Amino acid sequence: MPSKRWVSGLLLAGLIACGGSEPAMETAAAPATEPKDVHSYANADEVRVRHVSLDLTVDFERKVLSGATLLQIEPVDGVKPMKLVVDTRDLEIRSALASIDGVDFAETEFSLASADPILGSALTIQLPEGAKSVRVDYETSPSASGLQWLDPAQTAGKKHPFLFSQSQAIHARSWIPLQDSPGVRVTYQAVIRVAEPLRAVMSAETLDEGPREFRFQLDKPIPPYLIALAAGDIAYEAISERTGVYAEPSVVESAAKEFEDVDSMLQKAEALFGPYRWGRYDILVLPPSFPFGGMENARLTFATPTLLAGDKSLVGVIAHELAHSWSGNLVTNATWSDFWLNEGFTVYLENRIQEAVFGPQRALMEGALEVQELRDEMATLEPRDQILHVNLDGRDPDDGFTQVPYVKGMLLLRTIEKAVGRPKFDPFLRGYFDHFAFQSITTADFVAYLTQELPEAVEQVDVEAWTEEPGIPADAAIPVSHALEEVAKTRERWLSGAITVTDLPAKSWSTQEWLAFLSGLPADAGAERLAELDAAYHLSDSHNAEILSRWLLESIKRGYKPADKPLEAFLTTVGRRKFLKPLYEELAKTEAGKRRGLEIYAKARSGYHPIAQVTVDQILGYRP
Ligand code: BES
Ligand code: ZN
Repeated sequence: MPSKRWVSGLLLAGLIACGGSEPAMETAAAPATEPKDVHSYANADEVRVRHVSLDLTVDFERKVLSGATLLQIEPVDGVKPMKLVVDTRDLEIRSALASIDGVDFAETEFSLASADPILGSALTIQLPEGAKSVRVDYETSPSASGLQWLDPAQTAGKKHPFLFSQSQAIHARSWIPLQDSPGVRVTYQAVIRVAEPLRAVMSAETLDEGPREFRFQLDKPIPPYLIALAAGDIAYEAISERTGVYAEPSVVESAAKEFEDVDSMLQKAEALFGPYRWGRYDILVLPPSFPFGGMENARLTFATPTLLAGDKSLVGVIAHELAHSWSGNLVTNATWSDFWLNEGFTVYLENRIQEAVFGPQRALMEGALEVQELRDEMATLEPRDQILHVNLDGRDPDDGFTQVPYVKGMLLLRTIEKAVGRPKFDPFLRGYFDHFAFQSITTADFVAYLTQELPEAVEQVDVEAWTEEPGIPADAAIPVSHALEEVAKTRERWLSGAITVTDLPAKSWSTQEWLAFLSGLPADAGAERLAELDAAYHLSDSHNAEILSRWLLESIKRGYKPADKPLEAFLTTVGRRKFLKPLYEELAKTEAGKRRGLEIYAKARSGYHPIAQVTVDQILGYRP
């Protein structure tokens, strides 16, 4: 019987928890409240998946993962569950089996509901009485929303294909049938089969390094969106004893150099927020189609290669993903309406790390730039989307992806910090991470804990107005950067003719000063002004993706023609959504621009990640 063989194979490897031989796994405490997650079909109020075992083969020819997922389940106190409902999206289910002793498996009935465009399909599996585990045999779809399959041409090496997952927010279900809710924490293990000479990496401890077979295990309970996999021609370079970089061979050395401060960030973070609880911290640098700046997968941050500016100026993103090891991965938003608990805390922590490693001036510049972005975006958002504790009923959680949870969330914490002072706020933060470690919590849980532990904060700050109302409260502790104020003054002097373009102190400007300079250019400074800057500072050739994308955006606004070619080159190689979105939006504002956008998109689309495709399809009104 194949099912039995599969399970006993894992048993032999000493991997699987079943029968009486449970390995020592850290168990998650019950969440403080039981929130309803509107983005999951799982019957987590009846039965909970506690451990996930994957056995998957990476098939680059067919662009599918195929194999089996074993779910170890536990009834919720007092419930005798008759069924297990898990989330899926575009999965081809072959069979479902259940087991009472974790050794013998028998086929059981299952039904796959019709697909909801946002949530996917509920998979309902009948449970025999006393069932302890369930196994699903399946394969993924080539268009799985949580996977991107890259052709060799889309990699740095151009020789081998590449695969990576991106599970946040609700895409884990497109490659693993599970209770895909951040309120359901699981430990996991995996066997990943991939052809030589490729390597597989995951957001877990590596037990076995191939060839052809890679084994992983994570014994800390995480929300499913942190389960991650990549496979390709991947090399490794250590940075310190507990940190290092994975990347394609031609990239790994420069990546290790760019991120060499990561151990010092980790030390500063531990001093501020308490021990790092995950063992190693590594970074995987992906090919340029990776749709985000970074993704905080457990133990293994996934990062865009556009961070490799050569001068460490963009490592704030690494500080951010590292900070998620506390805010997000250790203490997790219970639902996507509480997303600000992940991101707002993380932007605050990121800033504290930057301050500790690079000094307050850099931290204030980053903070001030973020607030500017928040203000710009806020002006375009409906009131309901300006609320931290956002209502996402009937909506895709990706719609909650604005600067609001990030920067308004950070401002709330800064405002509390300012009200009570660091000598009180810092111990509060450490206590928060200790108290809720390995739990998923709601906004209400946070407010209750704050009220109890830091009553003087809630006396001074109207926390409810912050979390439940639109806008930025008047008492917000806004970071002010004198360096960026200087930049603004200098820009005025140049625009008014008091100084010439070569008098700008730009040679000594940091990336952040350049970004502030460019984003503050007034509308009446036209293409001829950009030409002056370009002649003096070669911005159209910038190798810094943040500066280049900002430059390209200002160029579209002003019809600055020499930037046309670099714009097309950028949009056809880089797939980071944060860059694509404003550029295509700006193009779409005029008829001619929209035509141009569609022309470029026709060439670029197939290279974008499914998540980025959805975003740009919407902007250009493109129907695939
Ligand atoms: N966790 C997010 C990325 C994410 C959020 C993916 C929601 C899918 C759904 C990650 O930590 C993040 O915020 N990345 C930012 C960088 C950060 C410095 C603001 C990004 O990718 O731009
Ligand atoms: Zn984040």
